[in-house]
Amino acid sequence: GTGLHSLAKAAGKLYFGTATDNGELTDQAYTAILDNINEFGQITPANSMKWDATEPTQGQFTFAGGDQIANLAKTNGQLLRGHNCVWYNQLPSWVSNGKFTAAQLTDIVQTHCSTLVSHYKGQVLLTVAYMLTTMFDSQDAWDVINEPFNDDGTWRSDVFYNTLGTQFVPIALQAARAADPNAKLYINDYNIEQSGAKATAMLNLVKQLKADGIPIDGVGFQCHFIVGEVPGTFQQVLEQFTALGVEVAITELDIRMTLPATQASLQQQQKDYQTVVQACMNVEGCVGITVWDFTDKYSWVPSTFSGQGEACPWDQNLQKKPAYTGITTAL
Ligand code: XIL
Repeated sequence: GTGLHSLAKAAGKLYFGTATDNGELTDQAYTAILDNINEFGQITPANSMKWDATEPTQGQFTFAGGDQIANLAKTNGQLLRGHNCVWYNQLPSWVSNGKFTAAQLTDIVQTHCSTLVSHYKGQVLLTVAYMLTTMFDSQDAWDVINEPFNDDGTWRSDVFYNTLGTQFVPIALQAARAADPNAKLYINDYNIEQSGAKATAMLNLVKQLKADGIPIDGVGFQCHFIVGEVPGTFQQVLEQFTALGVEVAITELDIRMTLPATQASLQQQQKDYQTVVQACMNVEGCVGITVWDFTDKYSWVPSTFSGQGEACPWDQNLQKKPAYTGITTAL
């Protein structure tokens, strides 16, 4: 095949994947592309495994939305990336500052992580065809910790850090490891793609976790980039992480532009997609690439960054853009 996943596999990567969301799955023109294993060998649920979706009330877990996407991945023979266990955002109001002691919040984090990760344990791995094509190397992955740092490299002041200090990280990772020993456990963040205080903070965290014997398998680079502004140090930063003995992945790639798009901005976007994918290709420990949905029709960008959009490799009408060629050129 000549799709993104087929090309990525042929080039020695584990997968090329995409985020998707439950509300998109009734769009048959969309799912025809999503379900195509030649294009996508991995799926991340954009929202339905987050804390507000999975444990809206303490101790009451709701897996319907997450299961729909996990089952789709299973049917399609695609890997699943769990997203995510512990994040300050999209957190239900019952998990809030000042309500719990450290002991209580430890228990809450452990229960949330272990229930979530064990629910999806091994859901995607067991199709024989998939195991053969990946030579038994396939793994589910979990973003156990999402966005722990501020841009200046200090810890984000959220309920987890405020109540537990840095200990919320090992608590969550250990609970996830116990729940699914075969899942690759990640910490995922943005603005760690360039050398600087935030990347340094993440490097130091990984070093500390390794020194303490805490399970950590990978670091996810979100890569929500801006056209013309892909950081020049990206590959070097990826290499700094793999040198510590963790794998890396591009977990939420999109490259947005100021609207309206022009021929020039679409051409620059093609180059930028190529540059980002090439950086992963050049680093052996970079296992795969996930776009944060593949089409401008469902991108989170226009509603989040005012005046910006067209960040994906397929356009509003589900047609491939020059960005698609940028990716295939690097693969
Ligand atoms: C975004 C989703 O795409 C949106 O639908 C939602 O409204 C907000 O969250 N970093 C992350 C993702 O780790 O979970 C975010 O997803 C995008 C930024």
